[in-house]
Amino acid sequence: MPSATPASDRWIVLKFGGTSVSRRHRWNTIGTLAKKRADENEARILVVVSALSGVTNELTAIADGAADSAERVATLEQRHREFLAELELDADAVLGDRLAALRNLLTDPRAASRTLDWQAEVLGQGELLSSTIGVAYLRAQGLDFGWVDARHWLQANFLPNQSPWAQRLSVSCNTAPDQDWRRAFAGQANRMLLTQGFISRHADGGTAILGRGGSDTSAAYFGALLGAQRVEIWTDVPGMFSANPREVPDARLLTRLDYYEAQEIATTGAKVLHPRSIKPCRDAGVAMAILDTERPELPGTTIDGTALTVPGVKAVSRRNGIVLVSMEGIGMWQQVGFLADVFARFKKHGLSVDLIGSSETNVTVSLDPSENLVNTDVLAALSADLAEICRVKVIAPCTAITLVGRGMRSLLHKLSDVWAMFGRERVHLISQSSNDLNLTFVIDEADADGMLPLLHEALIESGAMPADEASVFGPSWREINGAVRHRGVRWWSAPSARDRLLSLAQGETPRYVYDLDVVRARARALAAITAVDRRFFAIKANSHPTILRALVEEGFGLECVSRGELERVFEIAPSLPMERVLFTPSFAPRAEYAFALERGINVTLDNVEALQQWPEVFRGRRLWLRVDLGRGDGHHDKVKTGGKSSKFGLPLAKLDEFLAAARAIDVRITGLHAHLGSGVESAQHWNQIADELGGLADQIGTIETIDIGGGLPIPYAEGDEPFDLAAWGEGLAAIKAAYPAYQLVIEPGRYLVAESGVLLAHVTQVVEKLGIRRVGSDAGMHTLIRPALYDAWHDVANLSRLDDTEQEPFDVVGPICESSDIFGKRRKLASATAEGDVLLFSDAGAYGFVMASHYNLRGLPAEDVIEGVSGDVAAG
Ligand code: LLP
Repeated sequence: MPSATPASDRWIVLKFGGTSVSRRHRWNTIGTLAKKRADENEARILVVVSALSGVTNELTAIADGAADSAERVATLEQRHREFLAELELDADAVLGDRLAALRNLLTDPRAASRTLDWQAEVLGQGELLSSTIGVAYLRAQGLDFGWVDARHWLQANFLPNQSPWAQRLSVSCNTAPDQDWRRAFAGQANRMLLTQGFISRHADGGTAILGRGGSDTSAAYFGALLGAQRVEIWTDVPGMFSANPREVPDARLLTRLDYYEAQEIATTGAKVLHPRSIKPCRDAGVAMAILDTERPELPGTTIDGTALTVPGVKAVSRRNGIVLVSMEGIGMWQQVGFLADVFARFKKHGLSVDLIGSSETNVTVSLDPSENLVNTDVLAALSADLAEICRVKVIAPCTAITLVGRGMRSLLHKLSDVWAMFGRERVHLISQSSNDLNLTFVIDEADADGMLPLLHEALIESGAMPADEASVFGPSWREINGAVRHRGVRWWSAPSARDRLLSLAQGETPRYVYDLDVVRARARALAAITAVDRRFFAIKANSHPTILRALVEEGFGLECVSRGELERVFEIAPSLPMERVLFTPSFAPRAEYAFALERGINVTLDNVEALQQWPEVFRGRRLWLRVDLGRGDGHHDKVKTGGKSSKFGLPLAKLDEFLAAARAIDVRITGLHAHLGSGVESAQHWNQIADELGGLADQIGTIETIDIGGGLPIPYAEGDEPFDLAAWGEGLAAIKAAYPAYQLVIEPGRYLVAESGVLLAHVTQVVEKLGIRRVGSDAGMHTLIRPALYDAWHDVANLSRLDDTEQEPFDVVGPICESSDIFGKRRKLASATAEGDVLLFSDAGAYGFVMASHYNLRGLPAEDVIEGVSGDVAAG
């Protein structure tokens, strides 16, 4: 391959960390990778290695003068000998001199006073040992490797304002281009070379240590000095992710970042790459890559300066243990030098400040524990000093949540859901950096728990994190680890079901089709939960007569919210006993309560005013009471039905007043009800409600039934967890055991019907506008309003071309004259999608048809109920 750069001067630097050099099979990988890179690129290879894992910690203890240093050295020697045995190498021949040097350091005259140069030498032994072993092993495999002493080539900078400790044990190195250096380095005989991370040469010729993250930084220094093609950091994770995958399994691999974004992500959270290692490569324009030694086939993260900038949030990170120091002083901005006085006091206590927020009368700063020693003594001393000039308050522990990505300023309009999420917590400090890369919120640590997965999801849904940009966002952690929970085959994709649907779609569309087998399967799953005594179906979710009859047959009662729903029940099941009907109205007119009570229907009331103002309606009746437990929950703010901002439920503060008003008109309260929202994901939510209601019931004394509402979720989107019905049942069984006196009642809607229903529509038009391709559907927000109202997700499929493999992203829109008439953005559909194709919107059996309207004078959708098409799939 012709090239302007002679092969002898074309370098690739590969760095392997502790876990990558501690096992034989990994050394095989190192050899294979080095050879492959050399051959593929006609390049020379420099491998930089860390010490075997755990060794540097031991050496640090020895350098710190641990009393059992001799034993530690013996253990280290043993460990390396054993490893050589595993590699089938002669320990004395390969490592004899090095081990002797290690032992000698203990008897070295400098050991007694632990001089800094001695400490540096001790610390450097791990890399000297591992690199010596590595070269011997790779050569034994027939590879052309030479051993390089990093201290000959990396010269520590001498910075006069640094402490002597930092000048020896936390140095940086010069990486200015130097042709002589490069020529001399290239003059080494072997095609592939292996050297140590972490160490460099002190000005006095001794060893100097690079400090934390040292091996990454060594690789970066070498890469910069060599003008390498790239520096590859091989580690035990696949790269940088859009969030910490341990906390957010849906976090996406970031396949391409620019240096500044990578730097910011490395600094605010991700531990895969030391932030110090980026600058040398950035300055020299050398690309970096983070790759997984165990899974070299994964794309990894590439960091370079040529990436086309994709604006958007790339990652969200969390730092715990943040301490906020809030300083109040009246009119302090008028005082010249006030901030200088403040910061002098932080400096005095060796504290470096991270974030700053200020107003006329307050300055608040954050201290990051990873940069500072912030213990109670230091804080007390600092507070005492600061108290001389202002009033001080320390707020801890806090969490800093940071959104990182280029173009943060132009994204603010997309962050409304994110702001809303923080709005529910107490935000102490917000900081936006002027480099346009970082937006940080500081909240109480306790409030941050569980927040990151939701935040990550909200960022993607709002478009602020452009997760569809394939050039930046790779597979999710869950996908990489093969742990994607597929919701199972959907009933509608079975060939028989699909044919049936396509033939139904030949009639008029839009059209809802419900599979009754799915409804029955869900009903039976719920009926199997024995802790629940009685089950009602909330017919607001779907009031199709055939579905209601099927659920009545399955033993369900019916829960209604309006006179219209009650009349539907009378119509489809005229002989249904009235105890199997519930009426739970909200702000309904007086006549509806009277209508229901006159028919002997169980009415649930949720305010005291009705009792006081309409005594004649309620006198002498038995009623259930709906309470507000002070909080709501659910898949969207608009479906949360508890807490101060919600119109539902009697606040507990009014309970006594309500009970007194009831007694005054001879009303007996026999049931207690709470429904805090819809689409609640935590299976524990209902135990908690039952427990609280049980406690209240004990106080009230007349209660026979506890109704814990509905709200059970279904998995709408890929990756959503299916609801854990077994865990739910177990939790309720425990509650039932604690409160055996009360009947336990549920009233779910969605869970029974959502997955049974699909919405069929025809493609009206396919249009491209300024790079966005849109598929129009004859169904719109007038047919299925959930996406427009709640940003809800419904899978969209082109049923006419379900098997087409060639797909591309389309925005799917309806025919309504509103910008919110969008079913989904960037949905993958067959590239050939064309007018007349049948589209299918899945999981539309709940809150679909029942919320449809005539808006724009368009017609209501048709409805069909089918059965016998899905076989076993329905039960899944
Ligand atoms: N009980 C009461 C008192 C309710 O208000 C509701 C729903 C339910 C039971 C049944 O909740 P489910 O199990 O279906 O979550 N249109 C929204 C849902 C609104 C729910 C209204 N109340 C949606 O499409 O997500």
